[in-house]
Amino acid sequence: MKKILFVCLGNICRSPMAEAVMRKLVKERGLEKEYEIDSAGLISYHEGEGADPRMKAHAQRHGYKLTHISRPVRETDFDEFDYIVSMDDSNWDRLHRLAPTLEAEEKIVRMTDYCHTHVIDHVPDPYYGGAQGFENVIEILEDACEGMLEAIDN
Ligand code: 4NP
Repeated sequence: MKKILFVCLGNICRSPMAEAVMRKLVKERGLEKEYEIDSAGLISYHEGEGADPRMKAHAQRHGYKLTHISRPVRETDFDEFDYIVSMDDSNWDRLHRLAPTLEAEEKIVRMTDYCHTHVIDHVPDPYYGGAQGFENVIEILEDACEGMLEAIDN
């Protein structure tokens, strides 16, 4: 069993989207029993809320249903998960500060390091932008999640 936690700032746009994309890929490949997938945020401001309605609407157009409820990253996540996936440099820095041990820090990876078709170093935060930002997030995450599954599924 491999356990993946996707992390962004609010846990209402990028990381719940990443969670849905990875769940779909895992399901398509018949690997549901081999993966546990969750997401969390670095701020608790949206705790208890569903995903951003704009992210949900764009997701739906691409065949994804976002059901995750926002929750903050917990210290125990560093024990429970094998991969803690950050969306940008700020997430990366904050996760490193939260990680309780060196072993925990080694679990932190960058989502965009798994991209095959995008040459980028972060998943841009769509929260304060327009529709194109949400479309861009989905496109990047589909590329990155495919690359990640290919890289870790052995
Ligand atoms: P996310 O987007 O990190 O992709 O979920 C954001 C959600 C909320 C806020 C910022 C980014 N916020 O400032 O509340």
